Amino acid sequence: MNSPALSAPATALPPLLALIGRTPLVPLHFPEAGVTIHAKAEFLNPSGSIKDRLAACILLDARERGLLKPDSVILECTSGNTGIALAMVGTALGYRVKILMSESASVERRHLMRHFGAELQLFKADRGYITGIEISEEIAARDSRIFLPRQFANPLNAQDHVDHTGREILAQLPGHISAFVSGYGTGGTLNGCSRALRAAHPDIKVVAMEPAEAAMLSGESPCCHSIEGVAGGYLPPLLKGVPIDWPEKVASADALAMTRRLARDFGLLVGTSSGANVVAALRTAQKLGPGAQVVTILCDRAERYYSTKLFADTGDSSV
Ligand SMILES: Cc1ncc(COP(=O)(O)O)c(C=O)c1O
Repeated sequence: MNSPALSAPATALPPLLALIGRTPLVPLHFPEAGVTIHAKAEFLNPSGSIKDRLAACILLDARERGLLKPDSVILECTSGNTGIALAMVGTALGYRVKILMSESASVERRHLMRHFGAELQLFKADRGYITGIEISEEIAARDSRIFLPRQFANPLNAQDHVDHTGREILAQLPGHISAFVSGYGTGGTLNGCSRALRAAHPDIKVVAMEPAEAAMLSGESPCCHSIEGVAGGYLPPLLKGVPIDWPEKVASADALAMTRRLARDFGLLVGTSSGANVVAALRTAQKLGPGAQVVTILCDRAERYYSTKLFADTGDSSV
């Protein structure tokens, strides 16, 4: 951290942590469908994604339990946002952070992690997250300084969404909540938020957005899609036992179109999984009928997708 305003004595918690969470719930009105979707603006977290919550929760817990020592190295396999969040929070807490990421993740994410001070190790994208998880376990077995946050298996990933994201939504949206719609990467968001919301609204519908090209919950094989951050070719353990009412398949082209519309019509600079979530939320609201209150997540910021299809069609003209 370079900003003097955010510097803190080594023993105190970095003030940065106070900037994480308590994001607004934004009403998005779609006049042609007669529907308003309530979108949790997680892209406003300080590193730009919902993953700041997980990074702060897991690292503070590990620090409290004595699992993080001054010479610890935080090592995680991540498609990007978790790496950026761990790099930001881990470095601010004074630890070395090393990130394993697929070669397919966008170059902007790599720049951001390095900018926060993390070291990167890239691996081939063809086996999805599994390769990276295996490599990180091998490195940890050889080096006792390694701390593995294990975002895919760590129950705190989901519990933090029960205790915070889910509770915030309940406080922000009075009245009945009809459905919660979210994609899954680790499954932490879908698991934790749906548990918190269902405890207050037992008849809520829980809808899992998945790319049409990699609709694994719908029984199809994972394939190439453009919705970075979700459906990494693997059904994550945190998704087991989540009472999903139905999966909603969203084609990459529809996700990209909605992500551009969110920028142009609503001024929301978000990434492609946010667009995909809104497409799935709109369909859910239409299925449930008039008066349905549907909540979804705007997961991350658009700036980390400059090199991807999201920004490929500029539509610029020259004179
Ligand atoms: C952009 C983006 N969207 C959605 C998700 C899914 O979140 P979760 O891991 O909680 O399932 C992620 C996870 O990395 C992500 O990076």
